[in-house]
Amino acid sequence: MAIPGLYRRGAALVSAPSGSDALTIGADASAGTRLTFRTDGSVRITQGAAVVVQIDADGTVHLGGAAGEFVALANLVTAQLTALQSAYDSHTHLYAPGPGAPVPTPAPIPLVGPLGPVAATKAKAT
Ligand SMILES: [Fe+2]
Repeated sequence: MAIPGLYRRGAALVSAPSGSDALTIGADASAGTRLTFRTDGSVRITQGAAVVVQIDADGTVHLGGAAGEFVALANLVTAQLTALQSAYDSHTHLYAPGPGAPVPTPAPIPLVGPLGPVAATKAKAT
């Protein structure tokens, strides 16, 4: 069978993962970019020996490597920071300078004030 645009080669890729549990496509140069589908349901994009993107069988996506920390979502981070900013900027203390009832102090100076955006511009996640 002929597939136009593909070169049929009878030898295994030198730089691909060994074993029969994966399908790898991409450059065979040692520093090349390869896409590997594993029978465990995971998918990896590597550049040379470095894993740059990995999708685990459970759908977990790793960007920049096969390990790391979970990313925060911009809308949730903004909500948390806004709550802290609002609580700080509006808090007062009761001040009792002498005889008479305590009085509230003014709002703190400086205020945290409006917050800037925390969202990435090219990456999205859920
Ligand atoms: Fe205070």
